[in-house]
Order: sequence, then structure tokens, then C-alpha cells
Amino acid sequence: MNIWKNLKEKSLNTGRAFTVLAPMEDVTDTVFRQLVVQEGRPDVLMTEFTNCDGLASQGRERVIHRLSFSPEQHPIIAQVWGRKVDTYRQAVSLVAEMGFDGIDINMGCPVPKVVKNGAGSGLIKEPDLAREIILAVREAIAESVNPQLSLSVKTRIGFSSIQPDWVKHLLEQPIDALTLHLRTTKELSKVPAHWELMPEFVSLRDATNSNIVLIGNGDITTREQLATYRARYNVDGLMVGRGIFENLWLFSPEEIHKEARDRILLVKSHILLFQQTWGNQKNFEMIKKFFRIYLKNFEGAAQLRQSLLQLRTPEAMLQCIEQALIDLK
Ligand SMILES: Cc1cc2nc3c(=O)[nH]c(=O)nc-3n(C[C@H](O)[C@H](O)[C@H](O)COP(=O)(O)O)c2cc1C
Repeated sequence: MNIWKNLKEKSLNTGRAFTVLAPMEDVTDTVFRQLVVQEGRPDVLMTEFTNCDGLASQGRERVIHRLSFSPEQHPIIAQVWGRKVDTYRQAVSLVAEMGFDGIDINMGCPVPKVVKNGAGSGLIKEPDLAREIILAVREAIAESVNPQLSLSVKTRIGFSSIQPDWVKHLLEQPIDALTLHLRTTKELSKVPAHWELMPEFVSLRDATNSNIVLIGNGDITTREQLATYRARYNVDGLMVGRGIFENLWLFSPEEIHKEARDRILLVKSHILLFQQTWGNQKNFEMIKKFFRIYLKNFEGAAQLRQSLLQLRTPEAMLQCIEQALIDLK
């Protein structure tokens, strides 16, 4: 089953683009995804990007945590990156065995360390290698335990300048879906996403291979955008990254306003699930970046955030949360 095709059909039936939570390293781990699913799920989830060389190495344990997920998170796509065809093949076999619904190749990461290695958006400069990787992954999928595993690519619309030829090149490959982060590598996230170019890319897709499902990404932060962008830009799916920091309930069918108690309880859930999932495996400090998602829009939110930021252990934070709940009464 090609999940992207199903989602496209759904979007045709509903008149709304389907939604995807963007992969975000050190943010969208299995714990945060679980909370997103609980509060208002998107149609598809993706893992943080995971290095194929790491997956294929003896040190696999150091990276495989990025591919943890729970059954409620289906449909879920494993995102991988690298530049070695062989390690991509090994990653496919692992991803298929782990029960993912699809594999996504990262050809958009602008981080200098990744680009210098010729991976992520560095592949925009090596279209032949990008093609070789896609073909190898396609072949490995056919030989895997799940020949139906979907294959997608996430990329930017050029390296130093906008390159419709790069997008066309990808549309000529045997992929099921393509996500376009509507900025170049050079632009990082410093300029507004080029949504004005989306209709052009949709036409390019229609002219090149209309079976490929097209997903737009960049600067989506409101429910209104999610509701209207399909009609406006003719795109099949919409991927949201940082917008989830603004509104955790962005993907819910109904507009949701949560009270202080529910918001505080979310922090508690996150801490407990983090402990249960990761124990000491991950640096607990990373939990602090989530406070600003949950703790806002109520009186005393900023103060509670500040108090929690001073603390270092789950126990101390949980105690602080219990007190905050008592103080609400
Ligand atoms: C903290 C952070 C981590 C990210 N990690 C990844 C990643 O692992 N893989 C990837 O393809 N993109 C990654 N991105 C890029 C996002 O998936 C997305 O393309 C980008 O943020 C633009 O979308 P937005 O404007 O909705 O945030 C990351 C972005 C952020 C802010």
C-alpha cells in the first residue's frame, strides 16, 4: 500500500490537503510525537533524520533510538540521510523490518557539517548521485520484507538559487512523494518560504509524473493555512515544522483552547513519558525546549516556565508542577 497515494485520495475527497508533522532533530522524537498524536494528530508523522552510515555500523545503538516509535504513530515514515548507496540499502532493510510505512530521503538539510560531506542538501549539487541513491533504495525496497514500503524525498528548491531543474530531476525518479521546503539551502530559514512558486512546481509535477504526491513545506503556522492552501496552491499535502511550537493543536479538526491545568498536565505527561522511554539514555535538559509549547496563554505561565527552567531533575520538576496545580485551585 502506498500511503501517500491514499492520503492524496483523502485530500481529493475532503478538499483539504493532508498534513504531515515535519522531521525536526531533537524535537520530534517518539515522546513528542506521542503527545502530538494524543492532542491532535496530523495525517503522517516522520522520525528525526537518521544517518545511514550510523545505522549500518557497529555503533548502530548510538543512532537507532531516532527510529523508535509506538504503534499509535502509524502512518510513520523513517527519515534517513547519507551519501553511500550501500548503507542506504542496509537502512532500507532495517526500516522495512521495523514496520515503518515509508522511508524518506533527506536531500534538504543545510547544516554545514552535513552539506560538506555531500549529504542532505549537498546532494542538490550531485544530481547523478541523488538518482543513484533513489534507484538503490527503490531496488532495496523491492527486495525487503515490505516491498510496499513508500519512498519519498524531502528537499529544498535549489542550493544557491532557485533550481526548477533540480525539482524536475527528482520528479523524473521513481519516488512516491516529494516534499518541497520552499527555500534554497543558502536561504536557510531566513527568508519567507516561496509559496508563490508552488503552482509552478505543481505544473512541473503534472507535466513530469502526475502520480507523484507533492507536499509543500515552509512557514505554515495557522489552521487557516492548513484549510486553504490546497485550494490556493493546488498542493496535495502540507508539512508543518516550527508551527507546532505556536500551536500544539494545529492539526485538530476543531479549534482548541486549553486551560492552564491541561497545559501544566502536558508538561507532566512529557516528563513522565520521557523518563519511561529514555531513562538516562538522553540528556534530560532537552525537555526544556518544550516548555514554551505547553506553558503559555494563561496567567502565571511565564513564571512557571522560569521556575522549571531553573530545575535540573525530573523529580524537582514534577514537584514544582504539583505545586503549580495546587496553586491553581
Ligand atoms: C530544530 C529543527 C530540526 C530539524 N530537523 C530536520 C530533520 O531532521 N530532517 C529534515 O528533513 N528537516 C529538518 N528540519 C527542517 C524542517 O523539517 C522543515 O523543513 C523546516 O523547519 C521548514 O518548515 P517550517 O517553516 O514549517 O518550520 C528541522 C528544522 C528545525 C527547526
